[in-house]
Amino acid sequence: MAGAQTHRPAAFELPEDHPGFTDRAYRARRAAIAEVGRAHRRGDPITDVEYTPEEDEVWRVVSHELRRKHERYACRAYLEGARAVTLPTERVPQLREVDERVHGLTGFHIEPVPGLVPTREFYGALSERTFLSTQYIRHHSVPFYTPEPDIVHEIIGHANMLGNPVFADLYELAGQASQRATDDEALDVFSKVFWFTLEFGVVWEDEELRAYGAGLLSSYGEIEEFRAAEIRPWDLEQMGTLDYDITRYQPVLFAASSFDRMVTDLSEFFAGYPA
Ligand SMILES: [Fe+2]
Repeated sequence: MAGAQTHRPAAFELPEDHPGFTDRAYRARRAAIAEVGRAHRRGDPITDVEYTPEEDEVWRVVSHELRRKHERYACRAYLEGARAVTLPTERVPQLREVDERVHGLTGFHIEPVPGLVPTREFYGALSERTFLSTQYIRHHSVPFYTPEPDIVHEIIGHANMLGNPVFADLYELAGQASQRATDDEALDVFSKVFWFTLEFGVVWEDEELRAYGAGLLSSYGEIEEFRAAEIRPWDLEQMGTLDYDITRYQPVLFAASSFDRMVTDLSEFFAGYPA
């Protein structure tokens, strides 16, 4: 999740509580996949990663389950984006093909990175309509859990959003706002608003609460639990001051009264940030 960028372990160094920590083969895969991201230069053709049958299986299982849940819990704009991007369901997609699809739809690029991306670099790239994406996939022992953003989060969460021009424009405005947030405090407020909207935002649609945040839409468990969170009314000022914990389901979410209201308010906020 973008807001978690600074908490990521560098490249393939895994923390001790990572599900793949003691799995030598998994660590070797992480190293090899990180190398592809490391060798990539912005704007160059994206080199394919040869995913293993085990990795493809993780993608297949997770993407089938999420797809079912999206019909019940995702907002319309996300579903439209996902239908337009048309990700493969039986194998891990290559960033090369996701980039082609998304760029053809909204002019946004998806580019590989090895793992750790400093917060400013990650958000700054959005201002150039570029989303920096990891390519590794979560450990196969727990396909429905990941302690860090992986390709499932980046692509099923973010890339599907970026297939919709409304979201693509919001991401670009967010990137521009981050670049104007030159001091750390301003960047912190910006990151929190990004977190409670484009990562964990929810919106009322046809009297039902639906998710539009990539963090919720890529989380097998949390997508079914978010309606039980404390749902607060849309309040950008409050979002910007509220701390969050990336390691648990979000106990507090902010609901926009409508999708259009969210887009209008968030666009205005990003365009005028910092005030
Ligand atoms: Fe994210």
